[in-house]
Amino acid sequence: MNKKNITKIILDIAMAVLFITFFKKNLISMKFHMISGIVFGIFILVHMFLNRKWIANISMRLFDKKIKFRTKLSYITSLILFISIIAILFSGVYIIKAKTYDRVMFWKMVHFGASYLSIALIGIHIGLYWNWVMNIFKKAFKIKSSNVTKLISSLIVLVTLALGSYTIYTQNYFTKTYACIEYVAQHIVPQDLEGGSSYYGESEKPSFIDVASTYGSIISVFSIVTYYSDKALKKSKKADFKSTKISA
Ligand code: HEM
Repeated sequence: MNKKNITKIILDIAMAVLFITFFKKNLISMKFHMISGIVFGIFILVHMFLNRKWIANISMRLFDKKIKFRTKLSYITSLILFISIIAILFSGVYIIKAKTYDRVMFWKMVHFGASYLSIALIGIHIGLYWNWVMNIFKKAFKIKSSNVTKLISSLIVLVTLALGSYTIYTQNYFTKTYACIEYVAQHIVPQDLEGGSSYYGESEKPSFIDVASTYGSIISVFSIVTYYSDKALKKSKKADFKSTKISA
C-alpha cells in the first residue's frame, strides 16, 4: 500500500473519531471541544490538499456530460459539507463572543444545525467512498473475500442499520435538524429577544462508547443507504449496457 493512502486513511479515521466527540461538549471538556474543533478544521484542509487533483479536475469539468452522476453528487455533497464545517467553526467562536441572548441563541442554532446536517453529509461522503476504505483495509489486513466474510459483513450492516434507524428515531434527528435550520432562517435579523441564562448547568459526563454508538450509528445509516443505492445504480446501468449490446 502506498504511503499517501496510509496517510489518508489515518487522517480520515482521526477526523471521524474527533467529529463524534463534538456531539457531547462535556465528553472531555469545553476547552478540548474548542481546540479540537480548530484542529478538525486544519485536518479538513489537509484532507482537501491530499485530494487536490480530484477537486481541481472536477471543479473544471463539473458541467461536462462525460462526468458520472455519482462524481457530481460526491462533489456537491463535499462542497456543502465544507461550507457546513466553516459555518460550525465560525458560529462556535460567535457563540462565545455574542453579547445578547438573541445572538447567542442564533449562533448556537447555526452551530447545532450545521453539525446535525454534517452528520448526514459525512455519512453520504463515507458511503460513496466505502469501496476505497474497504480495499485499503483488505490490503492492510490481507483479508480475502469468502462466504464467511460476506455473511459477517451482511450481519454487521443489518445490526448497524437497525441500531442507527432506532437512534435516529429516539434522538429525533430529523426534527432537531429542521428545528435548528428553521430557527436560523427566522432569526437572521437580530430581534429583541427576552431570554434566560444560556448556561445549561453541569450535566452527566457521557462515555465515548455512548456518544460513538449514538452518532456513529446515525452516520452509518446514511453511509449504508448511500453505498447500497450507489451499488444498485451501478448494477442497473451494467444491465442496461449489456441489454443494449445484445439488441445491437
Ligand atoms: C467541526 C467542529 C465542531 C462541531 C461538529 C461542533 C459541534 C457542537 C455540538 C453538536 C455541540 C452541542 C454539544 C452538546 O449539547 O453537548 C457544540 C457545543 C458548543 N460548541 Fe461546538 N463544534 C465544533 C467546533 C467548535 C469550535 C471550534 C468552537 C469554538 C471555538 C465551538 C464552540 C462551542 C460552544 C461554545 C458550545 C456550547 C454551546 C452551549 O452552550 O450549549 N465548537 N458544538
